[in-house]
Amino acid sequence: MSATSVIEEIRDLLKRHNGILLAHNYMRDEVQEIADITGDSLALSMEAARTDAELIVFCGVHFMAESASILSPDKTVLLPRLDAGCPMADMVDVAGLEAMKAQHPGVPVVTYVNSSAAVKAVSDICCTSANAGKVVASLPDREIIFVPDRNLGRYVARTSDKTFHFWDGYCPTHERMKPEDVLKRKSEHPDALFICHPECNPAVSALADHVCSTSGMYDYCRKSPARKFIIGTEAGILYRLRVENPEKEFILASPALICPNMKLTSLEDVLHALRTLSPVVKVPEEIRVPAKRALDRMLAIPRD
Ligand code: 13P
Ligand code: SF4
Repeated sequence: MSATSVIEEIRDLLKRHNGILLAHNYMRDEVQEIADITGDSLALSMEAARTDAELIVFCGVHFMAESASILSPDKTVLLPRLDAGCPMADMVDVAGLEAMKAQHPGVPVVTYVNSSAAVKAVSDICCTSANAGKVVASLPDREIIFVPDRNLGRYVARTSDKTFHFWDGYCPTHERMKPEDVLKRKSEHPDALFICHPECNPAVSALADHVCSTSGMYDYCRKSPARKFIIGTEAGILYRLRVENPEKEFILASPALICPNMKLTSLEDVLHALRTLSPVVKVPEEIRVPAKRALDRMLAIPRD
């Protein structure tokens, strides 16, 4: 089947099922190209909560499709590749988090959305990389348990006067980028700004001109008068940065910045999901209801 006929059938099936195709900013270029909406974790969860569509095809990883199912229980949520997981999300489980809570009784748990629905269900509030600072600041408590990303947690803690208890999780893709990679790129392109994601190791973030979520990078690079940027996040972000800013240059900070899970979903997988209306991601009610509470508390915080 030619790529054009695959895309045509995807569009036809989406129309027939009153469906919407959401794609994370790290998806393959050709998937982002046909998506109705591309965005960061926060934008996509807000869209999943708001859309009138009856079917959501989520091109991302498992926890994102779970968030869509939690927020929109009456909609069918498809994850074209059920094996697209997130190793950072898998680094924390309910038993481990309950043990940590027992060590710090009464301390609220702030959980990065890169986590399972079950972990969200035993958390007080969620956050994304776009709103983590605001979420932490919204809590009256002096102490915070922050899971699972130690790097995002440390990044937020730098500008907070609260005491943090960090879970020792991390994103293997961002962690692979070393300060030496960045320094090499900076010496090759001394006129470029370095922008990175808060999932990076603190030694890398310390070298950045700006640290932000994936959608924050689109805003920043569009508004900045600079012409050249070294980008410290997953390679998929380059697609839209280059489309939206043809006169600017974007250089990946390290060739290691490829998340294998985010690269799994192909157009053929999307088509197969729409033809078979599977695989479905559905969070059971006993987990969905408490997990939704944590997501709703986050979504109630206004976005900039
Ligand atoms: P954001 O798109 O929210 O910045 O998240 C990055 C990420 O790692 C998603 O898996
Ligand atoms: Fe998980 Fe990192 Fe891949 Fe995002 S980029 S899905 S945090 S492993």
